[in-house]
Amino acid sequence: MKDAFDFAYFEGKIIPLKDANVNIRTHALQYGTGCFEGIRAYQIDEKKFSVVKCKEHYERMEKSAKILGMKFPFSPEKATEITIELLKKNKPDSGVYIRPILYKSSYDLGPRFCDIPEELSIYMIPLGDYLDTQKGLKVKVSSWRRISDNSIPTRAKVTGSYVNSALAKTEALSGGYDEAIFLNEDGKVAEGSTENIFMVKNGELITTPETANILEGITRNCMLEIAKDLKIPYKTREISRTELYASNEVFFCGTGVQVAWISEIDGRKISNGKIGKVSKKIQERYFDAVMGNIDKYKSWVKKVQI
Ligand SMILES: Cc1ncc(COP(=O)(O)O)c(C=O)c1O
Repeated sequence: MKDAFDFAYFEGKIIPLKDANVNIRTHALQYGTGCFEGIRAYQIDEKKFSVVKCKEHYERMEKSAKILGMKFPFSPEKATEITIELLKKNKPDSGVYIRPILYKSSYDLGPRFCDIPEELSIYMIPLGDYLDTQKGLKVKVSSWRRISDNSIPTRAKVTGSYVNSALAKTEALSGGYDEAIFLNEDGKVAEGSTENIFMVKNGELITTPETANILEGITRNCMLEIAKDLKIPYKTREISRTELYASNEVFFCGTGVQVAWISEIDGRKISNGKIGKVSKKIQERYFDAVMGNIDKYKSWVKKVQI
C-alpha cells in the first residue's frame, strides 16, 4: 500500500504530491504558525466514498484561522469542492485521511502572525484504524499538562500546539501504553493526545466541557447527537482523574481514532476490563453513520463517486 496518494492541492492548484514541497526557511516550519484539519473518507465500494463532516471541518479551520489572525482563503463549501475534486483525482483504493493545512509560507524571521503571507495545501493518505477500536486501549494519565487556552488557543487546531500531544504520546508509548490522557492546568481531565474523552458513570454519558482546554471535536458532537437519539442521558462537566478509574466505561473519540474504548487507565481496569454496553452501542452506531447507512445521519456524510 502506498503511504500517500499521488496528488495534492498545493498553493492554488492540484499537482503531483512529489512536487508539493516547501523550503526549509518556511515560517510555519520554524515557528508552528499554521492550523490544520483531519478529515476521513470511508470506502463504501470500489468507486464510492463517504466523506465525513467535510464542511464542518473546514468551518472549524476557518475558526482556527480567525483565532490565530490568519485568513482562510475559501468558504467551507468551496474548500469541500476542492477536496472532492482532489479525492476524485487521487482515485483511492482504501480509506482516506485528508489533511488540509493553512500555513505561514514566507521566509520571514521572527514569530508573529501579522504581515506574513499564508497558503493552503491539502494532501491525502490511506488510513485504516489510527488506534485499535476493538481490543481495549491501555492508557496513561500524562505527566504533561494540556496546554491552556491562554497560552496556545486549544479550540484552534494549531500545528505548533501538537508538540504538547507529541510529548504526551511519546511518554505513553515509551511506558508501554497505547495512548495518553491529558489533565489541564486545573488538574481536571481534558482529553487524549489527539482525541476527546467520554466516561459512563451510573448510566450517564459524560464528557469534558468546552472550557477544559480541549479541541472541540466534531466526533465529540456526533457522540452527543447519538446519545440524544439513543436516549442515553448525557452531560458535559468537569471530570476528575480518579472518577475515570472508578467509572463504568471510558472511550476516546475523534476523526482519526473513531470510537475506541479504554480497558485500563494507569494500570487500573475500567469495570471488568471488557467493552461496556454504552460504548459498544455508540461505537456501532457511529461506524454505521459514517458509512452513510443511517438515514438520520445522512447529512453527516457526502457520498462521492470517484
Ligand atoms: C487534540 C485533539 N482533540 C480532539 C480531537 C478530535 O477532534 P475531531 O473529532 O474533530 O477529529 C483531535 C483530532 O483532531 C485532536 O487533535
